[in-house]
Amino acid sequence: MSAYALRAPVENRPVPFFDLKPQQARLRHDIDRRVAKVMDHGQFILGPEVQELEQQLEEFSHVKHVIGVSSGRDALIMALMAMGVGAGDAVLVPAFTFSATAAVVIAVGATPIFVDVDATTYNLAPEGIAGAVASARARGLTPKAVMPVDLFGLPADYEAIGLEAEAHGLKVIADAAQSFGGRGAGAFVGALAPISCVSFYPTKPLGAFGDGGAVLTNEDDLAEQVRQIRTHGRQGDGDEAMRIGMTGRLDTIQAAVLLSKLSVFKAELNRRAEIAALYRERLAGVCGLPPADHPHRSAWALYTVRVPNRDAVRAALAERQIGTALFYRVPLHKHPAFASVLSGDEDLRVSESLSHQVLSLPMWPDLSDEDAHQVADALIEVMRAG
Ligand SMILES: Cc1ncc(COP(=O)(O)O)c(C=O)c1O
Repeated sequence: MSAYALRAPVENRPVPFFDLKPQQARLRHDIDRRVAKVMDHGQFILGPEVQELEQQLEEFSHVKHVIGVSSGRDALIMALMAMGVGAGDAVLVPAFTFSATAAVVIAVGATPIFVDVDATTYNLAPEGIAGAVASARARGLTPKAVMPVDLFGLPADYEAIGLEAEAHGLKVIADAAQSFGGRGAGAFVGALAPISCVSFYPTKPLGAFGDGGAVLTNEDDLAEQVRQIRTHGRQGDGDEAMRIGMTGRLDTIQAAVLLSKLSVFKAELNRRAEIAALYRERLAGVCGLPPADHPHRSAWALYTVRVPNRDAVRAALAERQIGTALFYRVPLHKHPAFASVLSGDEDLRVSESLSHQVLSLPMWPDLSDEDAHQVADALIEVMRAG
């Protein structure tokens, strides 16, 4: 179907931005069975399901170590701690992302340095790294790491970022909270950086029924450190704290839920990719679209388009009962929480302009073609009306 073409009128029904109930209905029997098993054996902390999940995730992502942890945010904190990031250090983060990406840097005593994003991928622009490193040094900070985010599920450009990081002596920590299941150049998310952090927040592509996350790495030493940090700094069954740690474990019940969700995850990723392809075909020329799914493969956590007069477009879609959401309407350097870490000379114009234009459309694995067409029809109609 060509751009701007509307289909023959069909009976319109509301399309919610997100709906996990159909997925739960598909999996309910299996999840009930697995959760009941946890209640029967009673090992609520680091029970066998956690290990089983970690193994299955290692196989899925072709990564040597997966460590199940309490949330995506805690995964990032543990990765920063294992990498030895602390007071006096600077960590480069994109300015267009969820607030946790920068908050974790402050939580370990370091300073986030905001880097602008690429206008096409919305991910950290590698060409911004050199300037951010210089700015950190000018402020008396030690540039220690760069933390790209795989925004909306699309892996960042780890090849270019890796080269820049090497040139400036930075460690790379992937904030892969939104991208588990995606693929970058030659590897799956989890193996694109020395250490990667995933979120299992319920609305993520692989979501639990509560908070959860994972740290992924191929490096034995980093894995051992993260394992210690997640259990109060203890080594194995030992009583001594070998280092400062935290209560950072993934709950056994959440692991049981995730094992069930993982059994259908590949099919769900394929379905998300189909919906993205349908949107792409229908909306080409209508509004700004995310890059096509090649050569990197997005996990399509969100399908986010760019439109002028975004708030009016959103209101007009709401009138047509199409649910949308805004990720993110405030770039990080405009959050009050980060005012004290700004240098004052930030130039983050792509992040700022995106924050006024982005609009996320319905994207969930049980969204039907009919629903996706309805979203496209409504958006085309609204954009035509101007
Ligand atoms: C980019 C990014 N980083 C970190 C997080 C934090 O993950 P969690 O909510 O599991 O703590 C999120 C969650 O939405 C995120 O989107």
